[in-house]
Amino acid sequence: MKLSSRIKSVSPSVTLAVTGKARQMKADGIDVVSFGAGEPDFPTPSFICAAAKAALDAGDTKYTPKCGADLKAAIVEKLKRENNLNLAPENILATFGGKQALFNAFQVLLNPGEKVLIPAPYWVSYPEQVKLAGGESVFIPTGPEKGFKITGEDIIAHAGDAKILIINSPCNPTGVTYTPEELADIANAVLQTDLIVFTDEIYEKLIYGDTRFVSFASLDERLAERTLTFNGLAKTFSMTGWRIGWVAGPADVVKAMATLASHQTNSPAGFIQAGALAAYTDPAAAETVEAMRQEFEKRGLHMHQRLNAIEGFSCAEPTGAFYCFPDVSARYDKVAGSLEFAGLCLEQARVALVPGIAFGEDRCVRLSFATSLEQIDKGIDRLEEMLKRA
Ligand SMILES: Cc1ncc(COP(=O)(O)O)c(C=O)c1O
Repeated sequence: MKLSSRIKSVSPSVTLAVTGKARQMKADGIDVVSFGAGEPDFPTPSFICAAAKAALDAGDTKYTPKCGADLKAAIVEKLKRENNLNLAPENILATFGGKQALFNAFQVLLNPGEKVLIPAPYWVSYPEQVKLAGGESVFIPTGPEKGFKITGEDIIAHAGDAKILIINSPCNPTGVTYTPEELADIANAVLQTDLIVFTDEIYEKLIYGDTRFVSFASLDERLAERTLTFNGLAKTFSMTGWRIGWVAGPADVVKAMATLASHQTNSPAGFIQAGALAAYTDPAAAETVEAMRQEFEKRGLHMHQRLNAIEGFSCAEPTGAFYCFPDVSARYDKVAGSLEFAGLCLEQARVALVPGIAFGEDRCVRLSFATSLEQIDKGIDRLEEMLKRA
């Protein structure tokens, strides 16, 4: 069948492809170590599952006429308590994951050809979602030499007639988190332009060392009317498969997104929302999230040390999310770039990692530390052996 040119312009997610291939190799009996995963390896906390089960048992299985009023109220509270943001229910929309929130926001804001500034490296879905909305991505290059961060100056230099700027801190794939001062510099630059800001804060709870997290929109009250904050429960509460996320932003944009969703998916299921509500309101939540964060911190430090001990690898210490993003280009003697390097690692070392080119940075590869310390050691031992043989 003849597919639309719209879908033909879009590439499938490389990260999902890598994890899928590793999963298939495992199913075929091959002992693969996978650093591909973009999801926590912990089970969803039991109090969240219990709340969803109770909602199921109570018959919360119909369309959700309440449009998520309880959950919206809990998100409003969460934003006040943790993010220093004062918003109302009409500023919130619950979605099928952070992914749908971002997708629909591009759909309701972009006219054909309108530009979106994306710091590179970037999360794989941003440019594809921009394309699907008819927009055009303008990349702001960073790279290891700039610590993978943009500055206010970069924004002024690239703003032109762009409509939207994306900020993702902590960042997938780099593991980098902007300091409050760096964000303030970006905010000052943004206020000199007409840019709308999409701040993707899905990794806000996964920060390490003395890193501090601030919500971009809380930096200056003038930002509220031009900022959309994206978040979700997938990474913080190990709920990737539940498909629940949300957006917080100006009421007119949120209303337009709800109109779009009304012809698309409606609201997330009632029992899913009940689980999310428990995540934001149960007193056990903070302690559970902190235990997972501590475990990620241990793993991240360990992976970072081991990667930097490999000749030709150079890796910044991750300050957030659960990724190391080493520059491995010094070891590209026999390969053309990150795609071939990742292919070699899978074939020869049976280690799955994601080529940096998928994120717009061919010098690097992404390794997720959402896996056990044993798997981290096993995988890095294998990479070392492979590279010694090379
Ligand atoms: C940077 C970033 N934003 C958004 C998402 C979307 O997450 P979800 O749709 O699972 O809530 C992800 C997931 O990988 C991500 O890494």
